[in-house]
Amino acid sequence: MTAPVSTSSRAREELAQQQNGAQGRVVWFTGLSGAGKSTLAHALYSELTARGRMVELLDGDAVREHLSKGLGFSKEDRDTNVRRIAFVAGLLAKHGVTVLVSAISPYQDTRREVLASLPNALEVFVDAPLEVVTQRDVKGLYQKAIAGEIKHFTGVSDPYEAPQHPDLHLRTDQISVEDGLRALLHKLEEA
Ligand code: ADX
Repeated sequence: MTAPVSTSSRAREELAQQQNGAQGRVVWFTGLSGAGKSTLAHALYSELTARGRMVELLDGDAVREHLSKGLGFSKEDRDTNVRRIAFVAGLLAKHGVTVLVSAISPYQDTRREVLASLPNALEVFVDAPLEVVTQRDVKGLYQKAIAGEIKHFTGVSDPYEAPQHPDLHLRTDQISVEDGLRALLHKLEEA
């Protein structure tokens, strides 16, 4: 019997990169619920797909239904969620996929940790004041959180630590989705 051909993981990575081209970027959208992370990530997804790029979107809501099912909203669970997302994003990026992550990811230390582990990651702060997102209340969750029906709700009864030095800071109460998309594309082209 011939021994199985064993390839080191480093060699496998190099081979994958040769076959699939350069390492993909990870664009990490962080911000309050309702700030516009998913809207901007979807707009960027459509644009990059139309340009023929391999793109994947890891959205907090979808991830929590599958990969992170059963996790809650304590710091520990949110950190676990964020680390799982980063792990999958890293695997995809290694194969040349541009990965768009949309997750509140409220804790600065955890964001810093995972972003540092991803080569070429961009941190995008999707920002709108609490009054604005509360007014928008797209999912009706702020009303419930303010009424005390949802505990530990980010921005209401749980912290959100804004990035100190994001690669891009988009004030979604001041600019349109098109403007945000233009800024994102510009950032991706220059970086
Ligand atoms: S994160 O903090 O772990 O990054 P994630 O982005 O995955 O959060 O999920 C946030 C989504 O879960 C929100 O958009 C909202 O729909 C829902 N959600 C339910 N409970 C909470 C809560 N307590 N705080 C924030 N979001 C919540």
